Amino acid sequence: MGIYTQESLETLRSRIDLPEVLNMHIDLKRFGSAFKALCPFHDEKTPSFVVQRGDSHYHCFGCGAHGDAIAFLMSHLKISFVDAVEMLAEKFGVRLDKVDQKDEVKGPSKSKLKEALNQAKRFYHFYLLYTDEGHNALSYLYKRGLDLDFIYRFEIGFAPKRGNLFAKFMKHLKYDEYIQQQVGLIQNSKRDFFYDRVMFPIKDAMGSTIGFSARKINEESLGPKYKNTPETPVFKKSQVLFGLSESRKRIAKERKAILVEGQIDALKLVQAGFDLTVAGQGTAFTQDHADILIKLGVNTIFIAFDGDEAGRQASIKVGDFFQKEGVEVFVLEFDSGQDPDEILNEKGPKAFSEYMQKAKDYLTFTVGEYSKTISIDSPSGKHQLVQILSKRIRTWNHPLVIHESLRKLAKLLEVPENLIEKENNPVKETRIRKQGTITKEVIDPNRILETDLLRWVFLFSSNKALQDLVAKHMVEEDFTVAICRQLFSLFIKNYKEEKPLDLLSLGMQMEDAESQLFLSEVLQKRVNSEKAEQGLVEVMQRIKERNWLSRRELIKMKIHSGRCSEEEVLELAKEFDVLKKSPPKIQVEEPAHDGT
Ligand code: UTP
Ligand code: MN
Repeated sequence: MGIYTQESLETLRSRIDLPEVLNMHIDLKRFGSAFKALCPFHDEKTPSFVVQRGDSHYHCFGCGAHGDAIAFLMSHLKISFVDAVEMLAEKFGVRLDKVDQKDEVKGPSKSKLKEALNQAKRFYHFYLLYTDEGHNALSYLYKRGLDLDFIYRFEIGFAPKRGNLFAKFMKHLKYDEYIQQQVGLIQNSKRDFFYDRVMFPIKDAMGSTIGFSARKINEESLGPKYKNTPETPVFKKSQVLFGLSESRKRIAKERKAILVEGQIDALKLVQAGFDLTVAGQGTAFTQDHADILIKLGVNTIFIAFDGDEAGRQASIKVGDFFQKEGVEVFVLEFDSGQDPDEILNEKGPKAFSEYMQKAKDYLTFTVGEYSKTISIDSPSGKHQLVQILSKRIRTWNHPLVIHESLRKLAKLLEVPENLIEKENNPVKETRIRKQGTITKEVIDPNRILETDLLRWVFLFSSNKALQDLVAKHMVEEDFTVAICRQLFSLFIKNYKEEKPLDLLSLGMQMEDAESQLFLSEVLQKRVNSEKAEQGLVEVMQRIKERNWLSRRELIKMKIHSGRCSEEEVLELAKEFDVLKKSPPKIQVEEPAHDGT
């Protein structure tokens, strides 16, 4: 399949120096045994884009972007695999030998295919605007509230009903017929694939047309309402989000997106200023589609599907794709039968914003939907609901999201938290497997608290002031969770030897599944680096308070156990009093000025 020999690609691979490649495009800084930079694939203030020294892959701990030099060039410069390979070969002085192409069936290049599609887009657009038949379609669009601005902006067109005019036009231009078949524009025997339909071009990230979605203008005419470009070398349904070419920039910047069912919904919203909207394309919205948005770095999704039963069911299903990856989902609720297009037509953009503000978070929405069919007034109904929903939540991928969601579920259903945690939750701690897959960890508030502290320690390993603060106030005995205590002592040991201990070198030393899981826990929560000291002090304070309270509890228990002599009880009571009068308080000194 490839055009270069395996050997020459191997040679290239061994010569590529990833940091050198990255440095040409982003500002890479050295941190201990790793390089870090602000991630070019999402918006961030502190660097989480990391390359371990000697590694041929980069990884972003913020958005999950991961890849090698080739992947980087492809996604950063939006170039093809072959272009990226050639660029690298030139840079590192590797000669690429071509595979003998005698018996390779080599199709037309992608740019040739896109060129034909762009030509088609211009033809249909012209036909809509400047022909009698087109004007009939124009009046359909006007009636639907799609004005000229809209038609120009999205280059809407019309495919003529009779005469295979498009095929004839392309023939006149001497366009290769095979190419047009390849991209789904003409059928064999030179017939137009699209006819008598309004044409919505679908574009890739660079704005090139890669396919069409075509709507009929007479509801009575035969065939489906929408006819879409079939799967082609440049149009892969699982990889296409309608509207992304318009919305990509703002989605990546604001890290949120609106998701709708229909393409007209998407374009109407974009035009109304919600240029962060996308729709699935022809087929159902899948995890692959969700992953496209997740890779762009979204952390909030507004689902604005149609206000009918199918729309609500799909909201639950699609919302799960995002919640699973820690993306927060809100669901907009429209009156029955309405979709965003109609909302905009009837009530305007302001009303749509209000729907967004009133959107329900995923769990609240889901509980509401399920309780339409399962009565939460009966104990067994409530039990059933808890079962269904807590099971779903436990399939999600982030321990903290699971934990918080289970707590929220308990609140929503008015069930004690500990009951939900116990529900279908077989002793998970013992299920930690040797390697590879990591099981979901049981949720323990102590673990969360102590992990919070370690997160500051390890994420800010280069911040000496923070490290000093931790070393000054915390001791091993402050930690009750084995792995946390272990890591803390590792930190202290390194600190005393004045060796920095960053997350990556730590990661290298962790081999077993539990430690790996811990590492992912540390990484999964975002922290506000500007408030690092404050955050750290708060969590140290909470740990100290927890320990202080439990020491008091312990004394109380001893006193009431009936096993102590009177003298002992007196001693304990004194101790208790002293303790009570001295609640822990982490003091932070102002930085000392030495007057010079
Ligand atoms: P809808 O039936 O909700 O249509 O289908 P819509 O988007 O509101 O369209 P209008 O307002 O009647 O023009 C939602 C989406 O499902 C796909 C399309 O992507 C459509 O936008 N679909 C629907 C098809 O691919 N083919 C069809 O025949 C119908
Ligand atoms: Mn509609």
